[in-house]
Amino acid sequence: MQKYLIKDLASFEGQELTLLGWASNKRESKGLVFVVLRDGTGWCQCVISLDTVGEALFEEARKITLEASVSLTGLVVKDERQMGGFELQVNALQIIGESVDYPIAKKEHGVDFLMDKRHLWLRSQRQWAIMRIRNKIIFSIHEFFQSKGFVQMDAPLFTGNACEGTSNLFETDFYGDPAYLSQSGQLYGEAMAMTLGKIYTFGPTFRAEKSKTRRHLSEFWMIEPEMAFYDIFDNMDLIEDFLRSVVSSVLQTCEKELAIIGRDTEILKNIVKPFPRLTYDEAVRIIKGEQDVNGQNAIVSLESELKAVQARIGLVQTEIAERENKIKTPGMKKGEIGFNQAQIDKLKQELGDLQEQERNIPQWLNSARNFEYGNDLGGSDETVITRLFDVPIMVYNWPHEVKAFYLKRDPNNSKFARGVDVLAPEGYGEIVGGGERETNEQLLIEKINEHQLPMEAFEWYLDLRRYGTVPHAGFGLGLERLVTWICKLPHVRESIPFPRMYGRLLP
Ligand code: 4AD
Ligand code: MG
Repeated sequence: MQKYLIKDLASFEGQELTLLGWASNKRESKGLVFVVLRDGTGWCQCVISLDTVGEALFEEARKITLEASVSLTGLVVKDERQMGGFELQVNALQIIGESVDYPIAKKEHGVDFLMDKRHLWLRSQRQWAIMRIRNKIIFSIHEFFQSKGFVQMDAPLFTGNACEGTSNLFETDFYGDPAYLSQSGQLYGEAMAMTLGKIYTFGPTFRAEKSKTRRHLSEFWMIEPEMAFYDIFDNMDLIEDFLRSVVSSVLQTCEKELAIIGRDTEILKNIVKPFPRLTYDEAVRIIKGEQDVNGQNAIVSLESELKAVQARIGLVQTEIAERENKIKTPGMKKGEIGFNQAQIDKLKQELGDLQEQERNIPQWLNSARNFEYGNDLGGSDETVITRLFDVPIMVYNWPHEVKAFYLKRDPNNSKFARGVDVLAPEGYGEIVGGGERETNEQLLIEKINEHQLPMEAFEWYLDLRRYGTVPHAGFGLGLERLVTWICKLPHVRESIPFPRMYGRLLP
């Protein structure tokens, strides 16, 4: 039914055709109705003129409302000023589905409202762009692994055992027995790597995270490659190649989408540079301000940033007050009031962001100053360290107590486990967690006991060590975390069509 798409209009200049879509905007002036049509592939201004279409159709055009679906037939005319570069001069039209009182208006809505209306919010240009970038990321992940000879495998979602700790399991009922929604496909991936060599999973995973953070979802998509005969260093090389490949292909193919969301791509372009590899010990020294990065000190730079933020808050507040006074001046022209009001709105937006930083920075400082060696890095610590870098960093060799049971103990120092986390720059933090796997059955049994995991649920996993075990390694990329960083989103909830989080099951 849909024959012509907005993205292809350049090939139809000067021709008449029919576009099908939704009215993402409409305005009227004397004898003219302007509709911005969106059809999933792009946006196009369509002009309906009384002179061309006559009374009856013009009246119909006036009935087009925000997000009504329509069929518009007309002439494709080049117009550089329009988004997409073309305009449709309409001579026939039909309303397909009306839209009465579309709830999302042009004005600013709060995030909770927009989340309640997620099914409609997804129609906005910004969400459209994010979803297209997500799609490209998914595609290039498959492309990367397939081109390197990895075989995709699907791990079960009902599982009989925990993989990533017992505190965030979703328990469910499996024919009367308890079962858990999968936190990770890794253990099954390890079994499959012993039959196929190099595999990757790409599936949903579940974690009951009973807190609201900008990084946590209850349901998220994870990509978990697992490779036989890989050690932690081979693993880090692969992670670096992989992320470089995915980010580069997004840069190459999503220029338009990145522009729509206003992503400054300079930092993303740094992906070609080597990723710094830091041991946990080095990372801790950096966070605590005991070691600088390129002449920058984590604590000192946060302190001066806080001062700068506070100074700017003062300036912005003054300017808001001045402009608010100004628009109260009697006799001020409508245009000037509008201009000032727009400036005030912008300043208030900035003020909100600044105030959030004013709240956050002291927390980060506090957490960095009081970081205790031996602990896992928390969200704040990750923010503190990654703000000093313009490429992802890899932190490896972690104290074994804070990491998962399956990680291999460092043969050179048994205090450490061969885990690696990749932290995205610009304060984003962990996007990948992985490492080399323990192959020693006895050490693994000790760990399973230490973590108080039920041994019988891991018998099958121990078999992998009993029958031809080999060094192997792998990692897990959180898809939404990557989308969030690439798009520089303020919160992970916008990186997935319908987020599932603590307190959110609908829509
Ligand atoms: O670090 P995690 O827990 O590692 C694993 O699950 C390993 N089994 C992976 C492996 O070695 N095969 O999780 C991996 C990644 C994190 O780095 C993060 O990007 C993402 O999954 N992730 C989450 N994303 C969104 N919401 C959550 N609640 C997440 N928890 C983890
Ligand atoms: Mg992790």
